[in-house]
Amino acid sequence: GDSQPLKGRRLLISLGGTREAIDPVRFIGNRSSGKQGIAIVTEAALLGAVGVVVSTVDFARVDGFETIRVESALEMHQEILSHLPESDGLIMCAAVADYRVKNPASIKIKKGASAPQIELIENPDILADSSSYIKSNDLKCVTVGFAAETNDALLNGKKKLSKKGIDLIVVNDVTEDGSGFGSDSNAVWILGSEGSSERIDLAKKSKIAKSLLLSLVKILDLKFPL
Ligand code: C5P
Repeated sequence: GDSQPLKGRRLLISLGGTREAIDPVRFIGNRSSGKQGIAIVTEAALLGAVGVVVSTVDFARVDGFETIRVESALEMHQEILSHLPESDGLIMCAAVADYRVKNPASIKIKKGASAPQIELIENPDILADSSSYIKSNDLKCVTVGFAAETNDALLNGKKKLSKKGIDLIVVNDVTEDGSGFGSDSNAVWILGSEGSSERIDLAKKSKIAKSLLLSLVKILDLKFPL
């Protein structure tokens, strides 16, 4: 078959965990390593894609991909939305913080008589916003999300797929052995908005990446043939 089914396609890929500033030296973060996202960028390049990576972590250059480094969900939101118009596919692999600090301090918070109260406010949902932006502007872009679940993985994954209005979701039960944060392997379901479902038993993140990208190819070639 075609060894480069993504040739001629531009992908927009986010990866890593966002950092939400508390003050100039502290942040609220999460345990996302970015490994699954880096595997996707690497496999996507092998399959012929080019594009942009919006990342919170440093990683080795991948041919054909430009990397934009960001820290917070708001910065990621802005970069993703601004690069959607030229993208054929959006893969939101990043672990985006649901909340950020409402008023980050501009100077380092000093230890005082009482513990500081940190007020949080909700971050935008980058994927949901992207999917509505794509629909309202008639963009030709296929959307992929991830869901890390601890219970009822399939059911919660299906709900997320339709709630966010996306084309594909990779559902990961993070309680399964060898799966999830920091690991080199994963066990997932890949669910499509048209009802397709594919189970991938514990496999290297590179294999998960390739399966996901081949599912994306199917949707792209169907919806937006070259
Ligand atoms: O709702 P939940 O956080 O489980 O959804 C995960 C998916 O949504 C991931 O693809 C993640 O990148 C994306 N997401 C986002 N913006 C947020 C939260 C999650 O794009 N604020």
